[in-house]
Amino acid sequence: MAPRPLVAGNWKMNGSRAALKELAAMAEGYDAALRAKVDLMICPPAPLVFLASAAALGSRIAIGGQTCHPESSGAFTGEVSAAMLADAGASAVIVGHSERRQYNRETDADVAARAKAAIAEGLTAIVCVGETQAEREAGKALAVVARQLGRSVPEGATPQTVIVAYEPVWAIGTGLTPTTDDVAEVHALIRKRLVSRHGRQAAGIRLLYGGSVKPANAKDLMGVADVDGALVGGASLKAADFLAIAAAFR
Ligand code: 13P
Repeated sequence: MAPRPLVAGNWKMNGSRAALKELAAMAEGYDAALRAKVDLMICPPAPLVFLASAAALGSRIAIGGQTCHPESSGAFTGEVSAAMLADAGASAVIVGHSERRQYNRETDADVAARAKAAIAEGLTAIVCVGETQAEREAGKALAVVARQLGRSVPEGATPQTVIVAYEPVWAIGTGLTPTTDDVAEVHALIRKRLVSRHGRQAAGIRLLYGGSVKPANAKDLMGVADVDGALVGGASLKAADFLAIAAAFR
């Protein structure tokens, strides 16, 4: 059975209490017909997680964090733990986003440690992988994704504990997207690797595509084999756009 689709929004370092009105509008537009077809999640910046969880109560829109520290507490000024996100109402957390890998120098091992911490707190770890433009041009996209996947996803991954997001770095925030054939090729590789390492249960792990997903391209991208949803950046900030992307699953 194909995994139930998920459209998740990564607000990155955007949003404010005022932006929670967009979340309210998403809840409003998430009608019974859409709820029957697709799960929705919003990952706001950490200071908004608690308020967003409260605002989303009863809407069935899940709330997630954008990263977490590997430790559950301690002298790590400025950091947020998986336990804190769970306590604030999150049910998932993104780990290993390319912006964290690039700007915070997170390695595959760092990402795996964060994913493990998230899972230990009962959160679903949304593990991000994806090649840079130079890596794609050098014909290394599949090798890079396979390496990141193998080293960033912890042992024993299940559909409850792990979601994988394929986000080609060059497609993030650029308006560029891979061809549907390229997406299919990478997602097939991810599925194959997950099943061979984690067993048959891994067939149910949700594989999201991310990178310039918009209402105009959502239907094509979401129709690709082994694409079980989207991880949306810019277009998740506005309810109308986010709901229009989710509508690809109507
Ligand atoms: P954009 O949708 O803005 O390209 O961002 C994608 C992304 O990085 C989601 O995590």
